Amino acid sequence: MKVLLSADAIAARVRTLGAQIARDHRARAGEDEELVLVCVLKGAFVFAADLARALDVPLRVEFLGVQSYGEATASSGDVRLTLDLGHSIAGKHVLLVEDIVDTGLTLSYLLGMLRARGPASLTTCALLDKPSRRRVEGGADHVGFAIGDVFVVGYGLDHAGLYRNLPYIGVLEA
Ligand code: PRP
Repeated sequence: MKVLLSADAIAARVRTLGAQIARDHRARAGEDEELVLVCVLKGAFVFAADLARALDVPLRVEFLGVQSYGEATASSGDVRLTLDLGHSIAGKHVLLVEDIVDTGLTLSYLLGMLRARGPASLTTCALLDKPSRRRVEGGADHVGFAIGDVFVVGYGLDHAGLYRNLPYIGVLEA
């Protein structure tokens, strides 16, 4: 496995992202206001766990399950919700956390769905971004690393269900 992003490089970037997001949240909402971190399963579970610990704000954590159907290696935009939030986000400040934005179809679907629920604010953060693959406009507000069009695994990301437990992000070699 070729290492693209080491565990140390990821940890340093996550700390920086956490500090930026916490600062922006305080500026937007005030010192004591809660932030609701919404982790998109499954891929974001490792990133969300580390990012949560880098966010020095009053934090709640919620999970969303999504599955996309269609093409095998890229989402089709036909996104289905498999697990919904446990609590209402109306009037709450929400941070949506994804592992990767590829075509952008999943993020776009989730933004539409969550906006309709009336959050006070909705901010997005993705560890990885593949801008060359985008099929809809837009990306996450906060991005850990922009990468090229390579198939990455580890740190939550899988291939056929495996490799999510790797502590680094690697490129699968043929
Ligand atoms: C991945 C990732 C995003 C989506 C991004 O999920 O976690 O949700 O694909 O792709 P897009 O920008 O092209 O929509 P995946 O379908 O691999 O499910 P998983 O997180 O459960 O592994």
